[in-house]
Amino acid sequence: MTDLGIGIIGTGVMGTDHAARLAGRIAGARLVAVQDADRTRAEAVGKALGARVLGDALALIDDPEIDAILVCSPDASHASLGLAAIAAGKAVLIEKPLAASLAEGERLVQAELRHGRRLVQVGFMRRFDPGYTEMRRSLVSGALGAPLFLHCRHRNATAPDYITSELVIASSAGHEFDAARFLLGEEIASAMVISPPPSRHAPTRQPQLIVLQAESGVAIDIEVFNDASYGYDVRAELVCEDATIALHPAPPTTLRQAGRDGPAVPQDWRQRFDDAYRLQLENWIAALRRGTPASGASAWDGLAAPRVTEACLAAWLSGTQVLVDIPERPALYEPG
Ligand SMILES: NC(=O)c1ccc[n+]([C@@H]2O[C@H](COP(=O)([O-])OP(=O)(O)OC[C@H]3O[C@@H](n4cnc5c(N)ncnc54)[C@H](O)[C@@H]3O)[C@@H](O)[C@H]2O)c1
Repeated sequence: MTDLGIGIIGTGVMGTDHAARLAGRIAGARLVAVQDADRTRAEAVGKALGARVLGDALALIDDPEIDAILVCSPDASHASLGLAAIAAGKAVLIEKPLAASLAEGERLVQAELRHGRRLVQVGFMRRFDPGYTEMRRSLVSGALGAPLFLHCRHRNATAPDYITSELVIASSAGHEFDAARFLLGEEIASAMVISPPPSRHAPTRQPQLIVLQAESGVAIDIEVFNDASYGYDVRAELVCEDATIALHPAPPTTLRQAGRDGPAVPQDWRQRFDDAYRLQLENWIAALRRGTPASGASAWDGLAAPRVTEACLAAWLSGTQVLVDIPERPALYEPG
């Protein structure tokens, strides 16, 4: 079988990383073309990796040499590009979030339902992180007993100024909502938010403690702290009746420096989740080549995260517990 032709829209940080992975390490696919609103960025990637540079995203989607598309442009462009890919009948991996708003995400899901076949995957790459997948596998095996608590921590060293207290919930926490749904294999039913005072490092941005309850009653607490200074740190511990299981992202080396001895803390998500991004792409390509639905987050999963966000924002503003709107899952999105 010939390699799948892949096109990338948006060659900023994420698009350039994905392009390098595709060009170097992913079997069964080849990078055919790239496009970016800033042509010089696309040209830099195209030249370095031997891909064609196209001037228009819709032309890339319709290009006969391109079988599948990676959307790595900003959130506001995700829905229209996803809709164009569905109209062209081509698979599309959209970097998270699925869309910039719940309404746009719903339009994507409706378009995919009309098409009748799953074409959209959302870049919730933690579903491929070896730690998260082992936690999920252990829970499903029954060896842990029933889950009771899920404790999650999401810390960045620093964050850009445009990340407001609201965006700490609406943007930074997005991966956590999907990770909780993935680990527990169920929907989130309700949300509460508690806001401690801001750190002196970001005096206008509050960290957030999000407390969710899953449909089964499992209690989930998520600390989201964008100004933790020391590094990028994502943690999760699942406490069950018979055991607890936690992420243990151990780098293969230990660092002795400045009077301390211990593993280094990654400085950003690209370092921490490098394996997850690679495995996500490998699984996506393998599923496309087999002709089966991709095993990553579907458009339906992509829509679930903003539904939780909506409840969290309402809970934050009202200081109350808010129920999450959980519509019935269409048959197309039943786990395979
Ligand atoms: N999965 C993850 O962990 C993760 C991490 C970071 C970012 N993201 C998502 O990836 C996407 C890209 O983020 P980034 O950090 O690479 O941003 P970036 O700003 O580095 O890159 C975006 C690129 O898109 C280009 N662009 C802007 N509008 C465009 C359009 N309409 N069509 C084509 N190109 C356009 C820009 O010129 C830029 O080169 C965002 O949606 C972001 O939310 C996901």
